[in-house]
Amino acid sequence: MDQLLDEDRLKRFSGTVWGYKQGEMVSLLIQIGDRLGLYKAMQDAGPLTAAGLADKTGLKERWLLEWLRGQAAARLLDSNDGEHFELSAEGAAVLSDEQGSLAFAAGAFSGGTPPDTVDKIIAAFSTGIGLSYEELGPNAAHRTERMLGPWTRQEFVPNIIPALAGVEDKLKNGATAADVGCGGGVALIAMACAYPDSTFHGYDPSAHAITRCQQKVDELGLENVVLHIAGGESLPTTPTYDFLITFDCIHDMTHPAEVIASIRKAVKPEGTWLIKDIRSHPDFKENLRNPFLAMFYGFSVSACMSSALSAPDGAGLGTLGFNPAVAREMVNAAGFNRFTEHDFNDPSNLYYEVQP
Ligand SMILES: C[S@@+](CC[C@H](N)C(=O)[O-])C[C@H]1O[C@@H](n2cnc3c(N)ncnc32)[C@H](O)[C@@H]1O
Repeated sequence: MDQLLDEDRLKRFSGTVWGYKQGEMVSLLIQIGDRLGLYKAMQDAGPLTAAGLADKTGLKERWLLEWLRGQAAARLLDSNDGEHFELSAEGAAVLSDEQGSLAFAAGAFSGGTPPDTVDKIIAAFSTGIGLSYEELGPNAAHRTERMLGPWTRQEFVPNIIPALAGVEDKLKNGATAADVGCGGGVALIAMACAYPDSTFHGYDPSAHAITRCQQKVDELGLENVVLHIAGGESLPTTPTYDFLITFDCIHDMTHPAEVIASIRKAVKPEGTWLIKDIRSHPDFKENLRNPFLAMFYGFSVSACMSSALSAPDGAGLGTLGFNPAVAREMVNAAGFNRFTEHDFNDPSNLYYEVQP
């Protein structure tokens, strides 16, 4: 090596890199805690020893002690002595309360990227061709749903739909709607339950996603949902829908312009299309203000851009690619005239209310 090393900078750089390794290990411990129901067992339980947690869960004390100390070291559990451990109210909101907390995040840790998928992503750097969500397998659909689900379940029907011009009344009175790129169907099912007089069509090219969606429809006995294993390119070519949504999926599509053109044909003249997509900026330097930007690029290489490049002529927008400027331009190019940006206090996404 010709360059002289600056020892302080070397230490800092090394610390940054090992910090990411530590993040990987803590992520694994979060996944274990989530899957074993440890956070749920600790919620509102006050300080617990490993023996106390073993009594509550039927799991082995020695394994629990190592997990508990690891969680305390990661500052996710409170402990002064390494023997008694407590999940704070904030900890419970982020790690345990999946149904009631907008801050719930533990679902995002359910399964990393399997080794064979990593091999395929590495190969994609040579071939240029990425993996579709179908090729990513059922676990990807499940993880996406658990990561994006809490916000959608808690905010979409109560707070977002009522803020859109005229949409709630139409849905209450019996409308036809579509969720394009519905994934596991959290938004679709929330709407179908809330508006029984309307019919909801879910489109997704991933059979894993549609299977998951169908299971929930069957469990709930919903009769107002129709599912299609098909992309947004296959929407009806005549005005059919009063309301369409695309949630966190335009940037994953190989041919987003084609899907947007299909949506333009499928929406009724007075209909509404609601887009939810990642909060990002055309300028990389602006995006650097996002403290989680590196994670978003990780999502992009492992899933979003990979999916968007899963055909040889894929557009490859990726996680940060459908920013407000791109959205406005593509939507206008397809012949939509009205474009309203909403924030809805969502830390990760922006919303665009679009009409012909
Ligand atoms: C990040 S997931 C979002 C799923 C769901 N909308 C949600 O919010 O949970 C992206 C979804 O887009 C789907 N997708 C990819 N290309 C598509 C296309 N051309 N048409 C419709 N959906 C597509 C993927 O299969 C995947 O289920």
